[in-house]
Amino acid sequence: MPGRCAIARTIIEPFRIKSVEPLRWTTRQEREKFLQAAHHNLFLLSADDVLIDLLTDSGTGAMSTHQWAAVMEGDESYAGSKSFVRFKNSVQEIFGYGHVIPTHQGRAAERILFSVMCKKGDVVPNNTHFDTTRANVEFVGAEALDLPIPEGKQPSLVHPFKGNMDVAALEELISRVGRKRVPLVMLTVTNNSGGGQPVSMGNVQQVSEVCRRHGIPLYFDASRFAENAYFIKLREKEYESQTPKQIAQEMFQYGDGCTMSAKKDGMANIGGFLCTNDDLLAQQQKDLLILTEGYPTYGGLAGRDLEAIAVGVQEALEEDYLRYRIASTSYLGSHVAEQGVPIVQPPGGHAIYIDARAFLAHIPPKQFPGVALAGELYLQGGIRSVEIGTLMFGAAAKMDLVRLAIPRRVYTQSHIDYVVEMILEVWNNRDKIYGLELQYEAPFLRHFTARLRPLS
Ligand SMILES: Cc1ncc(COP(=O)(O)O)c(C=O)c1O
Repeated sequence: MPGRCAIARTIIEPFRIKSVEPLRWTTRQEREKFLQAAHHNLFLLSADDVLIDLLTDSGTGAMSTHQWAAVMEGDESYAGSKSFVRFKNSVQEIFGYGHVIPTHQGRAAERILFSVMCKKGDVVPNNTHFDTTRANVEFVGAEALDLPIPEGKQPSLVHPFKGNMDVAALEELISRVGRKRVPLVMLTVTNNSGGGQPVSMGNVQQVSEVCRRHGIPLYFDASRFAENAYFIKLREKEYESQTPKQIAQEMFQYGDGCTMSAKKDGMANIGGFLCTNDDLLAQQQKDLLILTEGYPTYGGLAGRDLEAIAVGVQEALEEDYLRYRIASTSYLGSHVAEQGVPIVQPPGGHAIYIDARAFLAHIPPKQFPGVALAGELYLQGGIRSVEIGTLMFGAAAKMDLVRLAIPRRVYTQSHIDYVVEMILEVWNNRDKIYGLELQYEAPFLRHFTARLRPLS
């Protein structure tokens, strides 16, 4: 294995630390006050009152020395900057699509894609829509339909590719509603809302074949494309000797474009992009981009952000990095699971998902078991996580999960050991946790601003 000592069993962080950010401790009494003031919604906490922040892996990673060096090369020209050329070349080398349109983050790419391609009455199938993806589909009056494989809906079941799309269900949908009402199909790699689970190359090929046969474009939500590529390398025999980059390149060939949040496997703190091979669509997308994001060679980003992404998408595919990344997520998952904590199995790429319905079997879904568990983890150890369940998706929620997302290259093994200890403490006292009721909800993406009240 290149770059790795052949006899070492310990997987170490493949970096050393050059700049540190102090953490701030609080007492349980203080956290009780903070949680009450935040209306039991962890999004409404001040980050300063959080010890270990596992709310998201989005935009929270640490940049490398190479990225910071590239930042200094940022060309801030309004049009035709050198940074855009470097960004475009780097993205195209991996993704291979004809048009690369920068956006300020993933949801901006989604809004533009669905505004151009969808209308009222359309249906957009996805293995599982992420919350912003679903909201942007619904915003244009279309229906966002999740078609995960049945195994993907059973949290404790172990399957190598639980992120796969149900190909038979896709065929059935197209023949039921008609090809004209399905403007595109999406595959989310890895499947975040379905537990951070990967999609196999075999499944990508099958979905692509169905799409091509019906003349429907296939788009990827590529936010965690590098982690997905590494899972394919680990779990799909034909790909074991390929590099993650070769795997990613092949995967994208089966599609017609993608949306991307560069805040994940772009290893950047902000940014995203939209890719397509369709010249006409690209023109319409760029027209919309200019309206709200900016000129097509910067799309709402600074030149320095484009530079960070250009380097970041390549670093995300480095094998030493991916080995450590996937192993450290799995370390957290296996250490809590072996003590009986119910988690989505096997551990995902970027996060561990605790099955809150099983963890808090005495709290019904309508009393938000995921929110209750996330609140208790904060009270116990100052750990911030996020509910992915009834609060986030309403009646469409198939599970109530608590996601502990691991920021890239930020926390060390001892931080994770602390998180394990705190989860086990909450597990041993789970019967003392109560459900909650909603006091306020916004019409879209209600989980960001909802206010709740405990039922005790
Ligand atoms: C799978 C997936 N798609 C899209 C998005 C939206 O990206 P952004 O937060 O950059 O708007 C996210 C963000 O977490 C995501 O996980």
